[in-house]
Amino acid sequence: MRISTLIALLVFLATPAQSDTIAIVGTGSVAKALGPEFAALGHTIVYGSRQPDSEKARDLVAATSGDAKVVLPADAVVGADIVVMAVPGLLVEDITLGLGDLSGKIIIDPTNPLVGDWETGMKLGVDSSNTQIIQETAPGAHVVKAFNTLNWRQMVEPGGAITILMAGNSDEAKQRVAELIAGMGLEPLDVGRVDAAHWIEGLAILWINNRISSRPNFEYHLRRTD
Ligand SMILES: NC(=O)c1ccc[n+]([C@@H]2O[C@H](COP(=O)([O-])OP(=O)(O)OC[C@H]3O[C@@H](n4cnc5c(N)ncnc54)[C@H](OP(=O)(O)O)[C@@H]3O)[C@@H](O)[C@H]2O)c1
Repeated sequence: MRISTLIALLVFLATPAQSDTIAIVGTGSVAKALGPEFAALGHTIVYGSRQPDSEKARDLVAATSGDAKVVLPADAVVGADIVVMAVPGLLVEDITLGLGDLSGKIIIDPTNPLVGDWETGMKLGVDSSNTQIIQETAPGAHVVKAFNTLNWRQMVEPGGAITILMAGNSDEAKQRVAELIAGMGLEPLDVGRVDAAHWIEGLAILWINNRISSRPNFEYHLRRTD
């Protein structure tokens, strides 16, 4: 094979089916896991930070391939196809409102609305779910619950099969998120519309409370039957 043909083939193989601009709001553990992973799939990452000039934010950009950058959250979502809410779980309504018009965008919600403490156990801090709150706050967006039932370390190194449950009203949005999940070596599983997010957030409570108790730790790996 000629070298030019080989290079063209390698470029073709390395190019994702669709290259999106993905805004990741937050620069904490989940942002640090998902940003570089999505960039490695060929997507362009724009982090949204309250302090875009901080060392933490600059380090995260440096650890992310491609043309990554960090700006203020409301600026990060402008021009983004997908927005990831990698933010504290009890603040999603206010943070979503602060992002401006999100119509037409896919929003990935990995958050958990946790109340309680790390000694005695956690409970859900909202009646519906964070995903429903985000969907109601940004009605023109397509919100997909995903990535809330595993630790950020397993997002980067799964160490075995892990299922990522998805819930949301848009099948097309869930398909796009499923491609990201599969690209990371994880297994996507659609469990329904946005109201199913309540139960996925409940699964996170079971998972977290086992991790902080003397009971066995586990990851969710669900066996499909079709
Ligand atoms: N840690 C995990 O392993 C894990 C796994 C699955 C799901 N989750 C869920 O994912 C979400 C993010 O988790 P995380 O561990 O990445 O959290 P984290 O390390 O605390 O990071 C949250 C980020 O949110 C941003 N932020 C925006 N507004 C904020 C405010 N008013 N106060 C504080 N931070 C604000 C901050 O970025 P700037 O300072 O740059 O603005 C901060 O770095 C949470 O809801 C968590 O329950 C976490």
